[in-house]
Amino acid sequence: TPSLVVLISGSGSNLQALIDAREAGDLPADIRAVISNRPDAYGLERARAAGIHTEVLDHRDFAGRTAYDTALQQRIDAHAPELVVLAGFMRILTDELVNHFRGRMLNIHPSLLPAFRGLHTHSRALEAGHSEHGCSVHFVTPALDAGPVIAQGVVPIEADDSEPVLARRVRQQEHRIYPLVVRWFAQGRLQLDGDTAVLDGQPLEEPVRL
Ligand code: GAR
Repeated sequence: TPSLVVLISGSGSNLQALIDAREAGDLPADIRAVISNRPDAYGLERARAAGIHTEVLDHRDFAGRTAYDTALQQRIDAHAPELVVLAGFMRILTDELVNHFRGRMLNIHPSLLPAFRGLHTHSRALEAGHSEHGCSVHFVTPALDAGPVIAQGVVPIEADDSEPVLARRVRQQEHRIYPLVVRWFAQGRLQLDGDTAVLDGQPLEEPVRL
């Protein structure tokens, strides 16, 4: 079975979705380790409860981004994972780290990329007056939130939506689509070819709407 390392910074609800999919027999992969840059991330408890090895690599213990990412790369490589899964890992990564894991690092982002890269995506979608919003799973490449998008979960924006209501609606889709995309990778169905995501041998001209 292919092995995964999952990186988190917070609640870890997407990690939980992967754990649940694994336990339901829907994710043919072994979660080798969960690494957090924050010692208090609740996701660490979720991992421990599932019997998964956890590590904390606190960014405050490092002089800068390069030093941190060099250490992080070593920690990940120690587990020799086939895939690195970013699940709410709230750090900008150096090009060196991203290139090292090119084609084997996925991220989930709470918007319909290329719309709303970066932070505060839900309030920005509301302010923009969009009628649709959602989440995207993409291969990680050096430009922030700009790697090839594999799949998206789409939700409507209702007239009376508040930020937390919309965030919750998107989060439900995240929990649905991330395990599906990780499963594709684990099954050998998904690759990165240059700057193009390839699913079942077909270059994806647009993201799969799941
Ligand atoms: C998720 O909504 C994820 O899309 C987002 O952080 C949240 C983590 O939640 N990621 C980013 O914004 C990445 N820039 P979780 O810890 O409960 O999985």
